[in-house]
Amino acid sequence: MNAVQDFHHRSIHDRDRFWKEQAASVFWETPFTKVLDDSRLPFAKWFVGGRTNLCYNAVDRWLDTRADEPALIWVSTEVDQEEIYTRRQLFDEVNAVAAMLQAQGVGRGDRVLIYMPMVPQAVFTMLACARLGAIHSVVFGGFASVNLAQRIDDASPKVIVCADAGSRGGKVTPYKPLLDKAISLSKHPPGRVIVVNRGLFEFEPVAGRDLDYAALRKQFDGAKVPVTWLESSEPSYVLYTSGTTGKPKGVQRDTGGYAVALASSMKHIFNGKPGDTYLCTSDIGWVVGHSYIVYGPLIGGQATILYEGTPIRPDGGILWSLVEKYKVQTMFSAPTAIRVLKKQDPGLLKKYDLSSLRALYMAGEPLDEPTAQWISEGLGKPIIDNYWQTETGWPILAGQPGIAPIPTKFGSPSFPVYGFDVRVIDEQTGQDLGPNKKGVVAIVPPLPPGAMSTIWNDDARFVETYFSSIPNRQVYSTFDWGLYDDDQYWFILGRTDDVINVAGHRLGTREIEESINSHPAVAECAVVGVADQLKGQVAVGFAVLKDAGLIDQPQAAMRLEGEIMKVVDEQLGAVARPARVRFVTTLPKTRSGKVLRRAIVAVCEGRDPGDLTTIEDPSALEQIKDSL
Ligand code: PRX
Repeated sequence: MNAVQDFHHRSIHDRDRFWKEQAASVFWETPFTKVLDDSRLPFAKWFVGGRTNLCYNAVDRWLDTRADEPALIWVSTEVDQEEIYTRRQLFDEVNAVAAMLQAQGVGRGDRVLIYMPMVPQAVFTMLACARLGAIHSVVFGGFASVNLAQRIDDASPKVIVCADAGSRGGKVTPYKPLLDKAISLSKHPPGRVIVVNRGLFEFEPVAGRDLDYAALRKQFDGAKVPVTWLESSEPSYVLYTSGTTGKPKGVQRDTGGYAVALASSMKHIFNGKPGDTYLCTSDIGWVVGHSYIVYGPLIGGQATILYEGTPIRPDGGILWSLVEKYKVQTMFSAPTAIRVLKKQDPGLLKKYDLSSLRALYMAGEPLDEPTAQWISEGLGKPIIDNYWQTETGWPILAGQPGIAPIPTKFGSPSFPVYGFDVRVIDEQTGQDLGPNKKGVVAIVPPLPPGAMSTIWNDDARFVETYFSSIPNRQVYSTFDWGLYDDDQYWFILGRTDDVINVAGHRLGTREIEESINSHPAVAECAVVGVADQLKGQVAVGFAVLKDAGLIDQPQAAMRLEGEIMKVVDEQLGAVARPARVRFVTTLPKTRSGKVLRRAIVAVCEGRDPGDLTTIEDPSALEQIKDSL
C-alpha cells in the first residue's frame, strides 16, 4: 500500500478519527458533537451539531494574518481590466453586498439566483449569501432563457443578481434580456433583480423590480453584517446539473462538510498552503468554479484569480503570462483548453517564467494521453488528472501530491480520494469487480463530507436517481464506466447514461431533444454525443420531420437546420447547440420503441454498431449513415 492508499484506507476504516482530524482546519463557532450521523443512509449528516459559515472561513478568518495580501485577483482580457482585492477589501465588498441583500429581505435559507459573467461582483454575491446563510444558485452564463426559467421555478429565489452582459472572445453577450425573458416564462418570478451595469449593453430597468448594484453598493458602503452561523448540514448552495431526464437536478450542498472537504483538499490534493496563488480557468457557473475558484482557495487562505477571457486572447500565452505575473503555484484547467493551446505556437509555453508553478490539475472530461503528454513535456510540471462530478463537489479520483508524490500514468486520474469508498461494479449482478474489469463506477454510502446532501426539494428523487440503478445494493452510481488496473490506477471509460460532455460542459441530451422537438417542423428527434478531436464530444441531432418531403430539398433542409439551431440557442444557450442536425424519416429503435443511441453514436464515429438483434427497422441506421 502506498501512502495515498494508506490515507484512503484510514478515511474509510477509521472514519470518525480521520474526519475529526480533517475538521480541525475549519473554524467552528460551535464544535460538532458527532462526526457522522448515518442513521438514515443514503442521507448522511457530517459534523452534527457543529456551527460554522463558509464566508467566515473564506474571508474573516484570514483577517488577522493576511488582511493586506491579495485575496481576489480579477483579470479580464475581454474588457481589458485588472482589479486586486486584498482580504480586507474582499471583506468590505462582501459585507456591503450582504447588507444590500438583507435590505431586500434575504435571510437564512432564502434563495438568491446569480446569473453573471466572471466579474468580482459575482464572487462578492456568492460569499454574501454564505454570510447571511442564504442559499445561492449560480446559473452558468452560457445558458439561455428556458434553462434559466426552469431553475428559477425550481429554486424560487427571492432575489436575482445579474449583469447587463458578459463578453467572450471580444463579443458582447447580453445577459439582462435573457433574464427578463426567463422571468416572463417563470411561475415564481423574484421580487427583486439587482443588476451590475458594466456599460456593455443598454437595457431598460423594470420599474419596481430592478435595482442598480452600484447605487446600492454606495448606499451600503461601510456596512458590517454579522455572520449567520449554520448547523453543519444546513444548505450552502444549490447548483443545477443535467442528467438523464430533461428536468435539471438541483444538487444541494451542506455547509460544514463542504468546508472541511475543501480545506483538506487544498492541502492533500492541491499541495498548497496559505499565501499561495491559485488560478482556475473554469467558470463560477460550474462546480469547479464553486469549489476551486471561490471557496477552496479562499478557505485555504490563498489568493484566487478570477479570469474573464479565453485561453487564446490576446494570444495563446495569456494563461502562462498570468502564472508568471502573479506567481501562481497551482493551476486548474480543462483538457479542452489545453487541446486548444496545442494548436498555438509551442514557443508560448517557454516564453514565461513558470518557476512558481508546482502542478497543473485537469478535470471535467477525459484527459487523453497525447494531450497530457504534450502539456507535461511543454511545461515540465506534473499533470494531475482528477475525476469528479457536480454531485461530489470535489475529486473522487486524483493524484494527491500533498500526501505523497506517486508517479502518474497518463490517461488515469490515479487513485481514489480519501472519503470516497469507490468501487467498480457489475451492472448486471451488482457485485464488485476486480482489476482490469470494466464496470460502473460507484460509491458505497455514506458519501463523504462535501458531497451532495440531496436534490433540492426532492429527497425521493435523490434516492431514486443515484442510489437505485445498481441491482441488489444501495450504492451511489456515478453513471460513468471505469476500471482499475493491476497497480490500482483507475481509468474512466465514458458515461453509462445520456449525458454528454462538450468541451468540459456537461449537457443532457434529453434537454436538447426537448428543445429541438419544440420546433414546429419536427416530429421527433434523437441527440447523441459524438467524439470530437477538440471538444471531446459534440452534440449531433437526428430529426424526423412532420413533412418528410423536405428531406429531399437540400436548400430547405439547410435552412431548417439553421432554424433548429437557433431555437436551441435561444432556449438553452450556445453551449447546447448541436454541431449538426440531420434529417431522417425514421429513428433506429428497438421493437419496444427505445432509441438505439449507442448504435447511432457508433455509426457517427465510424465504428461497428454491435448487436442489432433488437432493431425494428435496420434501414434506419443506414439512413443515419447516409445523412452524414
Ligand atoms: O463523465 C465524467 C466527466 O464529467 C462528469 C461530471 O461532470 P460535471 O458534473 O460537470 O463535474 C465536473 C467536475 C470536474 C463525470 O461524470 N469527468 C469529469 N472529470 C473527468 C471526467 N471524465 C474523465 N476524466 C476526468 N478527469
